Amino acid sequence: MKRALISGITGQDGSYLSELLLSEGYEVYGLIRRKAKEDFGNVEHLKNQIHFIYGDVTDLASLILALRESNPDEVYNLAAQSFVKASWDSPLSTAEINALGVTNFLEAIRQVNPKIHFYQASTSEMFGKVQAIPQNEKTPFYPRSPYGVAKLYGHWITINYRESYGLFACSGILFNHESERRGLEFVTRKITHAIARMVVQGDKTPIELGNLNAKRDWGHSKDYVKAMHLMLLQAKPDDYVIASGETHSVREFAYEAFKCAGIEIEFKGDNENEIGVNKATGEILIKVNPKFYRPAEVELLIGDASKAEKVLHWQREIDFKTLVKLMVENDINLLKNA
Ligand code: NAP
Ligand code: GDD
Repeated sequence: MKRALISGITGQDGSYLSELLLSEGYEVYGLIRRKAKEDFGNVEHLKNQIHFIYGDVTDLASLILALRESNPDEVYNLAAQSFVKASWDSPLSTAEINALGVTNFLEAIRQVNPKIHFYQASTSEMFGKVQAIPQNEKTPFYPRSPYGVAKLYGHWITINYRESYGLFACSGILFNHESERRGLEFVTRKITHAIARMVVQGDKTPIELGNLNAKRDWGHSKDYVKAMHLMLLQAKPDDYVIASGETHSVREFAYEAFKCAGIEIEFKGDNENEIGVNKATGEILIKVNPKFYRPAEVELLIGDASKAEKVLHWQREIDFKTLVKLMVENDINLLKNA
């Protein structure tokens, strides 16, 4: 039986990846941080099928012990301070986790078992102020946040350990991927969850958002974790862009999400004065609040995943409209059943 160790297992991707690997007969180990109140996050429903090991990617000793205990064939490093906006508030801890944490894992693997196949969760945020459209594996990087800068270090140290020590280390440059399990602070889930409050609970509070013009290449996490696994099954380690190849603005996402709830929204005004109103009733549903602007913004992301499609035979199955619908329906059902 193959064994996998996943850091960041309690997060969105960790949960879908655990389901995928368990369905393929893997023995799954999860690195979790000790908390005052026990909390398995998104893998609560799998807690009896996963072997949990306490550890932290900022603690090399804990990673060495976790590797010795789990003896994995594959390691997926999904652990991160993953909220870009928070990286301006905590730039140093973001760097310790998202940058140095990767070196800790690579170094632990080098010392304990250099045959392990390693996946690093890199990101389209590394493209930041994009230098080409669309972005692929050859596009130069220009990160725009402490998060993006730290992730770029993680990306290059993964390549460096591959080239220096011959480790089987892959970096997946994943574009935004969301799901019914997305954290509530990310813009997609913030919108779908607020719509559910409006529809189910009659909440009249408009959703306050920042930059409605930002464009993202959004896919579903369930599709994207398949690509992570495929990378580690190849004969040779490499880096791959994983994306849908479509881009939509935050405004478009909001429009589509309200439509899924049976509401047509119309946008009026611009910049800080822009509002989204219910076309039928005139009620204000969205307001811009500059509090949600970022010190430096990534205005446009759109990825070219043709290398992954060709080499990994990876294809996404869930398109943009289906993704939005799944998220809205899920949030409405969650509140109805609460
Ligand atoms: P997420 O839901 O925020 O999950 C992050 C996970 O990292 C959580 O399990 C968290 O554990 C864990 N973690 C944080 N700091 C840690 C530390 N010091 N040691 C050990 N674990 C730690 O993120 P996600 O959306 O699943 O993303 C997974 C990975 O892919 C992240 O590295 C993210 O940066 C990257 N990524 C995500 C996207 C996307 O659009 N989702 C795109 C590109 C790349 P706790 O439960 O203890 O907080
Ligand atoms: N979170 C948030 N909240 N974002 C807002 C809001 C708001 O109220 N209003 C507008 N936005 C804009 C942000 O300025 C950004 O341009 C866009 O919506 C998406 O923001 P997030 O959903 O927070 O995601 P992200 O693109 O910054 O980062 C996500 O994707 C990266 C891959 O490109 C995260 O999952 C990262 O971990 C990941 O690496």
